[in-house]
Amino acid sequence: MVDRLREHGYTENGVSQAMGVVEHSRRDWQGWPAHIRNCRRQMDTSPCAVLTAFFLIEGLLDRELLMPLLGSEILGALHDLQWIVAVDGKLHFRYFLYPLLDSFILTDGYSSNPPSNFDQVYHLGADSHLLARLAPRPKVHASLDHCTGSGVHAVLGGAHSQHGFGLDINPRALQFARLNAKLNRRPNVRFLESDCYAVVTPGQQQFEDCPAFDLVTANPPFVPTPEALSLCRGGGLSGEEVTEKIIRGLPQMLSGDGIFSMITNIPVFRNQTFFHRCENWLDSSDSWGMVVLSNYVWSLESYVLSHQRQVSHQDYGQHFEVWLDAYEGAELEAVTSSQVYLFRSAHPWRIERSYQYPNDSVSRFIEQWIVSLRSFATGARYRLHPGLDKVWWLDDHTRVYLEWAPEFSWWRSQGLWLEGPAAKALAQIQSHPENFADQWDCSEALDQLLQEHLLTVSDPSTIFCR
Ligand SMILES: C[S@@+](CC[C@H](N)C(=O)[O-])C[C@H]1O[C@@H](n2cnc3c(N)ncnc32)[C@H](O)[C@@H]1O
Repeated sequence: MVDRLREHGYTENGVSQAMGVVEHSRRDWQGWPAHIRNCRRQMDTSPCAVLTAFFLIEGLLDRELLMPLLGSEILGALHDLQWIVAVDGKLHFRYFLYPLLDSFILTDGYSSNPPSNFDQVYHLGADSHLLARLAPRPKVHASLDHCTGSGVHAVLGGAHSQHGFGLDINPRALQFARLNAKLNRRPNVRFLESDCYAVVTPGQQQFEDCPAFDLVTANPPFVPTPEALSLCRGGGLSGEEVTEKIIRGLPQMLSGDGIFSMITNIPVFRNQTFFHRCENWLDSSDSWGMVVLSNYVWSLESYVLSHQRQVSHQDYGQHFEVWLDAYEGAELEAVTSSQVYLFRSAHPWRIERSYQYPNDSVSRFIEQWIVSLRSFATGARYRLHPGLDKVWWLDDHTRVYLEWAPEFSWWRSQGLWLEGPAAKALAQIQSHPENFADQWDCSEALDQLLQEHLLTVSDPSTIFCR
């Protein structure tokens, strides 16, 4: 089936085009009538439009439309599995089947089964897509995905790890996850029912080859809530009940070179930063680098409203009041939509910056960035990032204007001016990269340049001690 889907162009770009949206992962779910209409218009010429209507928008389709694309064997098997049901003489697919990067992920749908069901398995939301695009993907020995749901990040991790693991507290999710590992031919990925690390005790048979994990990913339930929500969403009143457990386990579970990559909503409290909380949770003598990339900040009011969709009209006002009172009582001030990286690093980075939603994987960029950040305290030879499109010097090399190539506009969409020590350091690196670090104390300037990822390690093997 997967081969057929590929053959018919069932890709992320293909489904965006079929739905008539710029980016399918950010589609407004209420817009489905428009999306299905767009698919119908293209069905005569685009197999992907037929597949999109069927697998992603719950379209009811004639068997004759699907038969030439999937064939009788696949349709018969889907029937036998009861994934397809007949409604008014047409075929209906009961789940959602997403193309995601070069994989396919089957999970519960969003619109037919609102996530008010307690054991609803999470659809692929914008958060799932973001983590897939933003997680670093080095070739590693072992990766672990917490709160795996459909198994999406464990399956993706399995492509670049020798051993992949996915954990979830919801047994129903694990059924989807195991199926997705099969669908994507990842026999090296295993799934276990677990409340965070509960089953991950060293020496257990399934983990014996993996004393620690080189990549830990997580998309935890993160909604701060005063009431019980589904397993996918409710993060307790702080929003961080599960996040805290995951981060507390990192000093023991993350390998020395390992990276933790998490997509979440971060509650902004009056008198305490997220970095501060992470330091407390890690409670470790190691030095850690911490990076938060945020692409949206909600006021409390707009956040509560965005989580009221399943509330009846009658309860709408009261629900809003209860949630807002609880948030204010907890001294919450705002909520950010953020990607978090934690990693051991001799230099204790605390970086917070904004970014724009990337329309494709940016894993390589992030991976290089973390290597460059980590190399800082050890001393390293850096070069200008090759993605810098314009480097215009002014005023006798004391000021510089930098602009990223269009594919990096998610990172910084506008040009950047530098002057003072940072500009001087950049000029030196450009002209004499080989002896730059020896020449003068440039730590502060380098710090600034690295935070913007204007420099990369020219060759990781040339890292030397300062
Ligand atoms: C937002 S969903 C993420 C699903 C998937 N990783 C993704 O990105 O699409 C959160 C998942 O966390 C799981 N979960 C909730 N509490 C948990 C816990 N204490 N331990 C493990 N998994 C948990 C839920 O069952 C759900 O599958």
